[in-house]
Amino acid sequence: MAGHIPQRFIEDLLARVDVTEIIGERLKLKKAGRSFLALCPFHDEKSPSFNVVPDKQFYHCFGCGAHGNALRFLMEYDRMAFPEAVEHLASRMGLEVPREGNDDPHARARDKARDQKREEGTNLLELAVRFYRNQLTLENASHARDYLEGRGLSADIIDRFAIGYAPDSWDSLKHYLNQQNVTEAVQVEYGLLVQKEDSGRTYDRFRDRVVFPIRDWKGRTVGFGGRVLGDAKPKYLNSPETPVFHKGRELYGLYEARQADVKLERLLIVEGYMDVVALAQYGIRNVVATLGTATTEDHLRRLFRLVGEVVFCFDGDNAGRQAARRALNTVLPLMIDGRQARFLFLPEGEDPDSLVRREGQEGFERRVVCASPLSEFLFEQAEEGRNLKRIEERERVISASIEWLGHLPEGVLKTLLLREVSKRYDIEEARVEALMNGREEMRLSDDKSRQNGSVSTSSSSQVQRNGGAQSGRHVRQKQIGALSMSAKALHLLMHSPALVEHLPEGDSWCPDDDDGHLLREVAMLLRAGRYRSSQVILAHFHGSSHFERLCELMQREPLIPQASRVTEIKGLLAHFDHQRIHVSPRSEYEALLAKEKQGEKLSREDALRLWQLIQELKQSRG
Ligand code: UTP
Ligand code: MN
Repeated sequence: MAGHIPQRFIEDLLARVDVTEIIGERLKLKKAGRSFLALCPFHDEKSPSFNVVPDKQFYHCFGCGAHGNALRFLMEYDRMAFPEAVEHLASRMGLEVPREGNDDPHARARDKARDQKREEGTNLLELAVRFYRNQLTLENASHARDYLEGRGLSADIIDRFAIGYAPDSWDSLKHYLNQQNVTEAVQVEYGLLVQKEDSGRTYDRFRDRVVFPIRDWKGRTVGFGGRVLGDAKPKYLNSPETPVFHKGRELYGLYEARQADVKLERLLIVEGYMDVVALAQYGIRNVVATLGTATTEDHLRRLFRLVGEVVFCFDGDNAGRQAARRALNTVLPLMIDGRQARFLFLPEGEDPDSLVRREGQEGFERRVVCASPLSEFLFEQAEEGRNLKRIEERERVISASIEWLGHLPEGVLKTLLLREVSKRYDIEEARVEALMNGREEMRLSDDKSRQNGSVSTSSSSQVQRNGGAQSGRHVRQKQIGALSMSAKALHLLMHSPALVEHLPEGDSWCPDDDDGHLLREVAMLLRAGRYRSSQVILAHFHGSSHFERLCELMQREPLIPQASRVTEIKGLLAHFDHQRIHVSPRSEYEALLAKEKQGEKLSREDALRLWQLIQELKQSRG
């Protein structure tokens, strides 16, 4: 057995990963208000009832009841064991899983071997960087130096981006690394050597190319891009997928941009290595490039973690506009309040590299400042090729823009844009909203027919926006039986773990029932201070029968507002006291009465109990 994974670590991990990201990589998610919808992978269904709630870092299926956090999802969906799921999330974040009290020599040896291998991998890539950089200084690399000079790169920039040269040889890197005691298997695994499938022969992947190291956000080299010096094909060669390199996730230049300015506010997204490097040379250093792929949601999430504004750069041609539309689609669901996205179109035939050389830093920056805001680009797209004077076409434009807006999360931007649609196309705002809701209604209408046994309520935000009118969107809520007093306390505590401060020490205060026992256990864990979030509490109970119960309670939104929860829990505690101490109805009645007489305001529960007791006592008196 490997040692225990410290709870602190699990807590950290869950705080860092995004359940939407994890699930989004496996299922097709569709934004629906504040959550995402998908077809449930755990039961057969034709319309989606599987919800992912980013705010709560939780998923829940209304069809089959499957629910949990990112760890639970990996365990269920990828059939990972708990430690494996933790490992998986940790390696995504580039973290090592620490182990406590590991006394099994086999496990220790295995962990050590794994650590060693990873270290070998990263060291190996750094060794390769050193090799390539050194090669660029050698005599037989003069044509590579000429090439870089011809492209206008200064020595300083070459140094800052650690640009190097892979010599025109099948095995010079291999030789170098062999001398450093790196096994060939590892060189192949990390993409530096190519291994022929038939013969097993290995040779250097990058040959006679300028090499750009790709670094992760911490500056560790994870892969390379290599450009030919002439017109040969392919123009660029990238590292293959390796344990540390995932093409759809890395952004070239991110580390260098962060080095240049710790307080980044805006990042430009361009297409090519050369664009990043050239712009940096002209003093525009807040630039990243996707590695020959379209910008993904994953990319954008990373960027929005660092900055509030992204500016997409596109070629002015058709392909560029196509790419921009795709980027618009990708960025819309991420546009929560406080984020901005803009679209910069370059003149035809130019890329950022050529343009900045022609127009200089100021000229280029002026273009960035004038880039179209998302809203402008969105309307431009909706209206493209349509004649607004013709009613039918105007209708098409309206539905197109509403379709786009439907992908936006709730927030100021969405509200403003809805208003803009109304003004721009001269259609009542209420009508725009109705159309928008209709769009959602359509999506969920299949669901509604299967709501047997559940209640449907209009979500509060909809009611507000519609001024109280019946809204189209329905949220299904599973009915769970009324909660007992201990369950109520547990429910509150799970949703507001800080309430533990108001619970008494010891364990004699808890009701002697199942939820009461669980309440005591959760309170003890919280008090021990090792667990601070309900997610980690959940993880702690994973696999036990308590887990199901806690999940059930987590799903139930507390109706009690944050501000009143302390009062509520105190009321519940008082109730527990009474139940325990005042065994006879008469003494309980008197205690409550005494409390009221002391001027203490009775909680709803107490008041109700008092009323019950009065009825009971009346009856017993005859
Ligand atoms: P471009 O062809 O626009 O490259 O490809 P560029 O950066 O302007 O290159 P230069 O100026 O000719 O040197 C944009 C990006 O697409 C990826 C690379 O990441 C490149 O930077 N790409 C392109 C490849 O991965 N392979 C290729 O063969 C071509
Ligand atoms: Mn170029």
